[in-house]
Amino acid sequence: MAQNIYDQPDFFAGYSQLGRSIEGLDGAAEWPALRAMLPDLDGLRIVDLGCGFGWFCRWAREHGASHVLGLDLSEKMLARARAVGPDTGISYERADLDQLSLPQDSFSLAYSSLALHYVEDVARLFRTVH
Ligand SMILES: C[S@@+](CC[C@H](N)C(=O)[O-])C[C@H]1O[C@@H](n2cnc3c(N)ncnc32)[C@H](O)[C@@H]1O
Repeated sequence: MAQNIYDQPDFFAGYSQLGRSIEGLDGAAEWPALRAMLPDLDGLRIVDLGCGFGWFCRWAREHGASHVLGLDLSEKMLARARAVGPDTGISYERADLDQLSLPQDSFSLAYSSLALHYVEDVARLFRTVH
């Protein structure tokens, strides 16, 4: 199992104070560049690798995605994401990106922000996503 620092109470408390945790995508420095790379999301099935508090999952739904699967290792991050409220078009699941398997042909877009640097074998993850 990969290291799971986000479930450590002190780390989680500190992370929760960051601008990106409070303001969401508008508080994330990389968001304008990432957003500019996104295709039209209308009707897409999306997987968010290391979804954290689920800000992108919700944004994607608001911008037309038919379903978003948010995956994260941290129960605390997932609990915060789920607490925002139910959306039948979003599922949050616990998964270790280092051990990930995905059903064939299930997603048309894989998204990830500030999570891949935690992955030990990123080549394996990319093969799985591909
Ligand atoms: C910096 S946060 C980014 C969260 C979100 N993508 C965002 O941009 O706000 C990194 C996230 O990656 C998750 N993470 C780290 N290692 C992971 C792993 N091996 N598998 C799944 N998620 C992981 C953490 O739990 C955390 O939620």
